[in-house]
Amino acid sequence: ICFAPALSLAKKLIRSGVDALVVEGMEAGGHIGPVSTSVLAQEILPEVADKVPVFVAGGIGRGEAIAAYLDMGAAGVQLGTRFACATESIAHPNFKKAFLRASARDAVASVQIDPRLPVIPVRALKNAGADLFTAKQREVAQALDEGTIAMAEAQLQIEHYWAGALRRAVIEGDVEHGSLMAGQSVGMVTKEEPVADIIASLMEEAAAALAQRAA
Ligand SMILES: Cc1cc2nc3c(=O)[nH]c(=O)nc-3n(C[C@H](O)[C@H](O)[C@H](O)COP(=O)(O)O)c2cc1C
Repeated sequence: ICFAPALSLAKKLIRSGVDALVVEGMEAGGHIGPVSTSVLAQEILPEVADKVPVFVAGGIGRGEAIAAYLDMGAAGVQLGTRFACATESIAHPNFKKAFLRASARDAVASVQIDPRLPVIPVRALKNAGADLFTAKQREVAQALDEGTIAMAEAQLQIEHYWAGALRRAVIEGDVEHGSLMAGQSVGMVTKEEPVADIIASLMEEAAAALAQRAA
């Protein structure tokens, strides 16, 4: 997650000696920043890809997209969502079922409803827990208005709302109240299959796209 403008942050990290960078856009599953992968890639790759290896992440579901980012100067890519339903993944069957059913528009970012109560956006499949989170923010904001709760305690209650929620969904299979972290590429997750098969498909698609360009 980056809070500074991405390019200046990338340059600062390079000056401080990092070996490589992962540039992740808001299409990704889990904790996200505000800018899309395609815009970050355009801002950052031309400026820094010749200095350190840069890996692009967020919203990548097929090899054609990998080929495109390699073309733009990326050293590689990082994928999460596409692998959540791999045979080797220990995620609960309920979690995998939710992924297989979902389309891109079901993977939504959590919303902050009160400027006093900071929420770090997390992209996850919408469920009852997400609705209750909105209700919780309203309730805590109202308590602040009424002076029945201190600011520090209010912010702590919001921060702690999702504590343990990923484990609840992934391990315990509570897909209604756990956090179903998923990126927008979840619509391209269509079956449970071995990691080797997922990588083989991605490589085939990427190689075909690159070969077509070379021809
Ligand atoms: C279920 C899930 C859990 C994740 N947990 C973490 C985490 O604990 N730490 C982290 O840095 N990234 C986490 N990520 C982000 C991934 O490392 C990766 O950057 C991201 O999934 C790439 O975008 P994609 O989901 O569009 O493929 C998570 C992603 C998913 C889908």
